[in-house]
Amino acid sequence: MDLRDEEIEALGTQGFFVRTAFLGEEQARAIHAQAQARAASGGLRPAAIRRGADRSEDTAVRGDFITWLSPEPGSALGGLWEAFAALGEALSRAAYLGLGRFDVQLAHYPGGGARYVRHRDAFPGQSNRRLTAIYYANPDWRPAHGGQLRLYREEAPLDVPPTLDTLVVFLSERLEHEVMPTHAPRLALTAWYYGRDVA
Ligand code: OGA
Ligand code: MN
Repeated sequence: MDLRDEEIEALGTQGFFVRTAFLGEEQARAIHAQAQARAASGGLRPAAIRRGADRSEDTAVRGDFITWLSPEPGSALGGLWEAFAALGEALSRAAYLGLGRFDVQLAHYPGGGARYVRHRDAFPGQSNRRLTAIYYANPDWRPAHGGQLRLYREEAPLDVPPTLDTLVVFLSERLEHEVMPTHAPRLALTAWYYGRDVA
């Protein structure tokens, strides 16, 4: 896994970087197919946390359906897992992030306005999630589908299209972000890396 100098620099100065064509079209399509099949199997659960009997307020905050992946050597999703592992090692070496284990989530936004409002993945000092890496698997994405990842950097916010084979990496404590309302199904695979000090 080769990291580019400008990516390491961007992570330090802006708190994120974006790489398109991360794994190549063939691998990306295979990941899409497997992620799509997993989502269609009905095994995903609403990500919104239930609050009593009424969870409508929560889907207004976060409308995706998720599951957690495990390493599956030999499969397309297993290949992505390996790529996330290599990414974490490369970033630990190049950016001195001291990353340890990671979790991988598959998230499916069904469209119909499903979104995830502005948030951070971790809060400074809690030393839980250090780094977020999101890989998108949407081969036919168009602007009308919505679901851009809005990154609240210091300048004007940046909207990243969730197109096939795009990787976004950011510091979990630092960058606020948001999933804009989706108007078509949207698949994302996210790795959260923890610090080495966390078991
Ligand atoms: C998250 C999240 C962004 C995306 O799951 O915490 O911010 O683009 N996802 O799916
Ligand atoms: Mn997030």
